[in-house]
Amino acid sequence: MRERSKRTLAGGAIVAAASLALLLASCAGLSRPGKGAAYRNPGLSADERAADLLSRMTLEEKVGQMAQADRQFLESDEDIARYALGSILSGGGSAPGVNTAEGWADMYDGFQEIALSSRLGIPVIYGIDAVHGNNNVRGATIFPHQIGLGAAGDEDLVERIGRATAIEVAATGIDWNFAPCLAVPRDERWGRTYEGYGEEPGLVSRLGAAAVRGYQGGDLSDGKTILATAKHFIADGGTAGGRDRGDSKLSEEELRGIHLPPYVDSVAAGVGSAMTSYSSVNGAKMHGNGELVQGLLRGELGFSGFVVSDWAGLEELPGEYEDQIAAGINAGIDMVMIPEDYKRFIETTLGLVRSGAIPEARIDEAVSRILKAKFELALFERPFADRSLLSEVGSPEHRKLAREAVSKSVVVLKNGGILPLKADGLKNVLVTGPLADNLGAQCGGWTISWQGENGAVTEGTTILEALRSALGDGVTVYTSLKDAEGVKLDAAVAVIGERPYAEGRGDSRTLALPSSHIETVKNVKAAGIPLVTVLISGRPLIVTEAIDASDAFVAAWLPGTEGAGVADVLLGAVSPSGKLPVSWPRSVEQVPVNVGDAVYDPLFPFGYGLSW
Ligand code: BGC
Ligand code: BGC
Repeated sequence: MRERSKRTLAGGAIVAAASLALLLASCAGLSRPGKGAAYRNPGLSADERAADLLSRMTLEEKVGQMAQADRQFLESDEDIARYALGSILSGGGSAPGVNTAEGWADMYDGFQEIALSSRLGIPVIYGIDAVHGNNNVRGATIFPHQIGLGAAGDEDLVERIGRATAIEVAATGIDWNFAPCLAVPRDERWGRTYEGYGEEPGLVSRLGAAAVRGYQGGDLSDGKTILATAKHFIADGGTAGGRDRGDSKLSEEELRGIHLPPYVDSVAAGVGSAMTSYSSVNGAKMHGNGELVQGLLRGELGFSGFVVSDWAGLEELPGEYEDQIAAGINAGIDMVMIPEDYKRFIETTLGLVRSGAIPEARIDEAVSRILKAKFELALFERPFADRSLLSEVGSPEHRKLAREAVSKSVVVLKNGGILPLKADGLKNVLVTGPLADNLGAQCGGWTISWQGENGAVTEGTTILEALRSALGDGVTVYTSLKDAEGVKLDAAVAVIGERPYAEGRGDSRTLALPSSHIETVKNVKAAGIPLVTVLISGRPLIVTEAIDASDAFVAAWLPGTEGAGVADVLLGAVSPSGKLPVSWPRSVEQVPVNVGDAVYDPLFPFGYGLSW
């Protein structure tokens, strides 16, 4: 988790912040609308209520609604009411002191109570990255990362996972998910490849829209659904060299043919918000790109939800802070994920509106959209967490669904006749490799912390544990060749793969694994034991040596907490149906290689996957 900012404000900023506080305090002198105010009437439409509420707001209150702060940067919780903040988020790992579902619900309710004490009593909308289950919460069900669901290719499954995730999020009170990621990753050197469903636009479109339907359900106000976000608009998966936050150099045809289709389908599915990308399109940063945000997303696609910027994304625009804020808001950003110095943001934005650099009509438009989402979510009627949902966080039913998803996502790339392993013919089995018993690695980034971590990060079943329990007492499981010295091993499973990572820290120039992982595979091979290698990774890797040394080779992606889904395939309980959602390159020099390329000769093509 990030440290609270130690930065000292410059003298001028202190004075500005003080006068801002005074100004906002004077709002308290304004009258508080009575219970009969139109915006409090659930019988009116969200549009009518938003219009009524907007007409009662001061400029300060409006700009406050556009501000989103991370909970860890709140100087005082009371600032939510003092500055009339519209939204709070938890970035990756920004968890309450007691990281249980109940601890989250307590925190959420506390913030909401403060928001309701403000003059107009506008609840905050709380956002989180529940990108593979409610992944910041200890004990939540962790589903496969999106690339695994791309391999499963099953819309109904994705929708059911969306619904289960929505319930696990809603149980903590949280209203809004920064998912699905609609990236179409075209170069697996990109550290965020696993956040996308795959390299083929049609696949991403189908599954992205299914996720939106799952998160938002049929009725946003039913208390079991959450607002979804189409992110990161647009072409985050197309950057040169797969560099995170890089530049996508694209023709109009490529932009529309590869990166736009998922937005068309998610907008049609009614996605409530969209997030702009850190990356650029032909040199122009998306956070200031009015042509694509206002013109394409709103104008052409008819997107009617609200647009949120990415974490400190405006600060990556050229110029001084004032220029960055004006450029972003004028380009069509409605809510700003600040996420740190919200006072400076509010003060600066107020100045920009007063000087005419941002038209007040633009502010009104942005705030109307945010308020409308709050009414649609019924936040005024039901501002607090529904504690009756807490028992569903990490429930057996949700874990069963995750296990199903894992078994459907596994892709068998090679099978020299040894899969499925026949449990009744086995006496001594080796289950080894650096990731055989590593729950954190199975889950990957965006799990409990932003980057994720090796080891026992939360509750779940590792692949070793799953195999042990599925093989039963009749089979002895050894975990290293050394332990098994002198024993005749009937089969071996080696689990190798990537360490957890998120965003740019996962960018790779080599797509290689540490040599110790490859050595594990070679050593088992040298011992002459029939060998299945399982790869845990967020993307295809250049592991041809390991594939060659194995009798069978299986890509399990980042399966999450339910390792039993992998065992289900290896031991034949489920016959494999996963298909590659990305082309598997022969070498890193061959990257980028994508289905539809004029010259196309990958090691395994898009859509490949064996069954029995
Ligand atoms: C990521 C987003 C995420 C946001 C909030 C950013 O760094 O790019 O995908 O939603 O942080 O955690
Ligand atoms: C936050 C993430 C965010 C990232 C952006 C981290 O500190 O936890 O949510 O995406 O910063 O750089």
